[in-house]
Amino acid sequence: MSNPATARERLALTLATLNPVRDIVAQRVDAARPPDWCVRRGWVEFLVSLSEDRLRQAEAHGLGHYLTDLRDAPADLRALCDAVNELTALPRLNIEPFALSEPALRSVPQRKREQLSWLLGAVGPMAERAARIVDIGAGAGALTRLAAQGFQRDALGIERNPAQVAAARARAREAEPSLGPAARFVTHDACRDGLELGPNDLAIGLHACGELGDQLVRTAAAIGCDAALISCCLQKISGSLRQPLSEAFAGFGFPRGILGLTNQTAQPVGVEASIEQMLAARKVRYALFRMLRARGEEIAPGAEMRGINRRRANAGLREVADAALKLRGLAEATEAELSTHERAAEVEFGQMRRLTLPRSMLARLVEVCITLDRAAYFEEHGLFTTVATLFERRVTPRNLCVFASRDRARLPEPELAERRPQ
Ligand SMILES: C[S@@+](CC[C@H](N)C(=O)[O-])C[C@H]1O[C@@H](n2cnc3c(N)ncnc32)[C@H](O)[C@@H]1O
Repeated sequence: MSNPATARERLALTLATLNPVRDIVAQRVDAARPPDWCVRRGWVEFLVSLSEDRLRQAEAHGLGHYLTDLRDAPADLRALCDAVNELTALPRLNIEPFALSEPALRSVPQRKREQLSWLLGAVGPMAERAARIVDIGAGAGALTRLAAQGFQRDALGIERNPAQVAAARARAREAEPSLGPAARFVTHDACRDGLELGPNDLAIGLHACGELGDQLVRTAAAIGCDAALISCCLQKISGSLRQPLSEAFAGFGFPRGILGLTNQTAQPVGVEASIEQMLAARKVRYALFRMLRARGEEIAPGAEMRGINRRRANAGLREVADAALKLRGLAEATEAELSTHERAAEVEFGQMRRLTLPRSMLARLVEVCITLDRAAYFEEHGLFTTVATLFERRVTPRNLCVFASRDRARLPEPELAERRPQ
């Protein structure tokens, strides 16, 4: 199966690599102690001896891309990197961005504008024959407004957050003279109360998070309508486990904690904050975790910031320690205590960053698998699919998309494979 044509075939190839490393995906690196999967494979020494410079490179570009040049890396780790690189190198689409026009664009941030223009460019042939465009998880409604205006179609934005719906309606009213057919919005929880789609609808989810994306796929596949989904935040599910959709993915249920890994794809520059800032904040959170454990608090890794805005970690350990200790009714931290945990975190956090590299590399593979699971489900229902990356990582790393249609001619065509897929 050298050049797989369908999502099902690609999923089978991807699973052949994922299956033997499921133990890596399953065990987080929460402490400086090497995880079992790393010890078992004999990777500890290589990883912990990576210089700061090498570590930075691997974090920025993904271990997969970095290791290809490192001859001293263990052979099985390099082989895994090669396989992950190949499987995550999804094609870009051979499309033109859609020209967006004011005033439907008011209050839409630049990065969202870029996402919208590529997405609308990709769905053109599907939108032109659709009776209605349904924007699922519409947020403030930019996609709904622009689709109504751009394709002169009725467009419905479905959103469960009433404040977002109110904002979307207000913005649509402001832009109304230019909209043509109506952009309407409803407050509706599509996972709790179901989704109603017709066979001539085009269902779109731009960053339809977690189970909302699965709900879109399930409903659109059952009715056989055209669909476009760019997923994000796969961990946003109401249960503790994401069940596979397709038969091809049977047996690959992912717990919520593992799905959260897929939000951590490596990138040279953080989208929200610089890498430097992100690392400093993560080190502070680890120092806080350490401090709370030393105070006898039985908390799971990641729970140290519960009830505290994550951005406060940017202000340093004192700031978050004050908040976390107060929340738990504990005495204020002393200077000596703060500096003990800061110093220990300096060493241990560096160790964790190194040991976690193979697992972080697998984040994109898991994300690709779930994207292919969705596409395979469409195929199992008789639809054709295109799976690709829709925009560059600098716009957002959540850039994997699935397009599905009963008519292959309506799907956007993939073009050259990305050179740096992570
Ligand atoms: C990441 S935002 C994307 C918003 C918009 N599509 C965009 O790209 O800017 C996801 C949106 O889906 C909404 N959402 C999540 N679960 C939902 C559900 N079950 N039913 C309807 N909307 C939901 C959220 O409230 C949020 O506004």
